[in-house]
Amino acid sequence: MPASPPSRATALALDEQNPLRERRELFALPPGTVYLDGNSLGALPRCVPERLAHVVGEEWGRGLIASWNSADWIGLPRRVGDRIASLLGLPEGSVWVSDSTSVSLFKTMVAACRLRPERDVLVVETGTFPTDGYIAASVARMLDLELRWSDSARVEDALDERVALACLTHVDFRTGAMFDADAVTAAAHEAGSLMLWDLCHTAGAVPVDLVTADADFAVGCSYKYLNAGPGSPAFMYAAPRHHDVIDQPLSGWMGHARPFAMEVGYEPVEGVGRLASGTPPVLALSALDAALDVFEGVAPADLRATSLSLTDYFIELVDVRLPGAFEVLTPREHTRRGSQVSLRHENAYGVVQALIARGVVGDFRTPDIARFGFAPLYVTHADVYDAVDHLVDVMDGGEHDRAEYAVRNRVT
Ligand SMILES: Cc1ncc(COP(=O)(O)O)c(C=O)c1O
Repeated sequence: MPASPPSRATALALDEQNPLRERRELFALPPGTVYLDGNSLGALPRCVPERLAHVVGEEWGRGLIASWNSADWIGLPRRVGDRIASLLGLPEGSVWVSDSTSVSLFKTMVAACRLRPERDVLVVETGTFPTDGYIAASVARMLDLELRWSDSARVEDALDERVALACLTHVDFRTGAMFDADAVTAAAHEAGSLMLWDLCHTAGAVPVDLVTADADFAVGCSYKYLNAGPGSPAFMYAAPRHHDVIDQPLSGWMGHARPFAMEVGYEPVEGVGRLASGTPPVLALSALDAALDVFEGVAPADLRATSLSLTDYFIELVDVRLPGAFEVLTPREHTRRGSQVSLRHENAYGVVQALIARGVVGDFRTPDIARFGFAPLYVTHADVYDAVDHLVDVMDGGEHDRAEYAVRNRVT
């Protein structure tokens, strides 16, 4: 007997069972849009505009400069850091939020390498997000280190007694493949190296236990699954054992033990605050602070279960309804999968553009990847069903091969 075709009722039943189903209402998603690009820019939490209006109108407009104290603007990098620490299962006082991901990577990479002065190799992997590689190359030039590129499947082979630091992206931005943080961190430590994780595609979507893994440093952005808006600041984690010895390269006045004493010499503050450099981005930090409200009370296990259910369902529908049309690049094993699914197609750009024209927003990664992110708090199984329905129509109608998609003219 032929298998019955997938039905939307199945999707609705899966949504009904989802313990996170009510969280979607916390987001202002445009009607008629299936948003599968939260791994690039998260959706807008409804509470953010109200908070920003208050910070701008009241705290800045009325409170003026007094708000550094009365509204505790000065405490935001640490307060917001503590909220992210709690979300990621990290100790209080171990996370600082202030700069972009790239700048945060620079600061933590240099700080880590300076903790292993007798070593002369910095390891990154070939599939890493470009900024990680570019920053690592600059750090290597600056500190006179060798930059060693490792294959993602064989990172352990690159680790030896010369390695000061290994910096890896926990979830691969192209394929959605995920490293085993415990095993890789253990291998790095075994070689006497320190370990820095880029959590951009992890935080807010995939629980990772860096305390058990015993990682040294981590960095992650807040504009993807943490939904804090375009260009919102990144977080930096440093294991408490390093706090008193961190020597980071952008030693600005906000990381000084007494910033307002305006002393000539630099003396770092105690604790994670020594990762600070300059004046914190108060508006962006306030947006992030508000955006974190949507995670209040969410169990990490539910986040993971929903993410896996959504990605499983997407892969299953693509397998059943579009056999042979795409290569699924994302690992099928749960232990190796982040919260996205990447499909390879020779005209992936056209596929993504044709879907966007139909209200299904994913993104394209050169040269041939159509990428779909599944933010567990607001993507539903019905969204997944509808997205694949549109994908079937796009492919059946050859919409991806339209002349207008022959020129790649979008930045994302
Ligand atoms: C893994 C990873 N690292 C870093 C970045 C970007 O760094 P920045 O926030 O400085 O632009 C991205 C952006 O997509 C990313 O995916």
